[in-house]
Amino acid sequence: RQRVLSGMQPSAGSLHLGNYIGALVQWVQLQEAYDAVFFIPDLHAITVPQDPTELAHRTRTTAAQYIAGGVDPDRATLFVQSQVPEHAQLAWVLNCLTGFGEASRMTQFKDKASKQGADSASVGLFTYPVLQAADILLYQPDGVPVGEDQRQHVELSRDLAQRFNSRFGETFVLPRPFIQKESAKIYDLQNPTAKMSKSASSSGGLVNLLDDPAVITKRIKSAVTDTGTEIRFDREGKPGVSNLLTVYSVLSGRSITELEADYAGRMYGHLKVDLAEVVVEALTPVRRRAEELLADPAELDRLLAKGAAKARSMAAPTLAEVYARVGFLPAT
Ligand code: TYM
Repeated sequence: RQRVLSGMQPSAGSLHLGNYIGALVQWVQLQEAYDAVFFIPDLHAITVPQDPTELAHRTRTTAAQYIAGGVDPDRATLFVQSQVPEHAQLAWVLNCLTGFGEASRMTQFKDKASKQGADSASVGLFTYPVLQAADILLYQPDGVPVGEDQRQHVELSRDLAQRFNSRFGETFVLPRPFIQKESAKIYDLQNPTAKMSKSASSSGGLVNLLDDPAVITKRIKSAVTDTGTEIRFDREGKPGVSNLLTVYSVLSGRSITELEADYAGRMYGHLKVDLAEVVVEALTPVRRRAEELLADPAELDRLLAKGAAKARSMAAPTLAEVYARVGFLPAT
């Protein structure tokens, strides 16, 4: 079976609707046909300052949401990155193959560093994409399902794999980005030309998986819509309404065309009231299941430790081969 691998940062406690529709929903489908590896990149999270107690809490909360959203820990390999030391070990080797200029061209680094002020950004933030390449290459996946915003990072991992192979001999499978369809990209409810993001300036444009129904309803009802009255999908002309239709379509399983026909002659307000219900109905079982899982953190930790052991058994042979090819002496 072919393998896929992906991860989502635990940087906010709750995943948002963009993470859910753009990533988690696809992962759950992929785990049926692929050998799937899903992890929580907590090493990546500390590239920006984190409160230790909060980080631990957010890592568990993220794991709970993976499972509540449908990732099956018996079928997929589910683990926390810091529990598999091979990630940091391979990252070092790859750091030594990455050009300074090459790393400087990573657009996500440039964005994040400029937000923080270039001088206060950490070196970890700078080498973030190299650690991501290590995450990927350790497991020799065929595909890396991510949103468009992660394409450059997957391409770097492919370049590094190729470079390592040509310098030291065939070692890595070249991973391909599995970029989700444009229809899986979710935009900020208050600013529907920007992607929904946990680093948005206001939380008004976000729907979080763990929000209670009253909050979800309020956010959807106050979503920015467009001038005019027609409920029609038009990404350029009507970004607000189009975003609402995308969410509606994915969560209800009904096509956009069908929804347009249903809402012909009706008002934006009707669409929002119905959509709020659809979102609440879709997310409530996920939130409840996540809460159940979080009520027993010891059991969750045990599950994650089991996942980490499985992950190590896949990662260790790759790292051993890399070490040998680079010329490191065997430890035994
Ligand atoms: P992260 O945590 O920013 O995002 C996780 C996934 O969610 C997708 N996504 C969205 N999809 C649709 N609409 C949105 N508004 C939206 N916002 C986010 C992202 O494209 C992504 O697929 N660097 C990665 C984490 C990572 C990783 C890896 C991923 C670390 N190592 C190895 C794959 C393989 C990140 O920050 O994703």
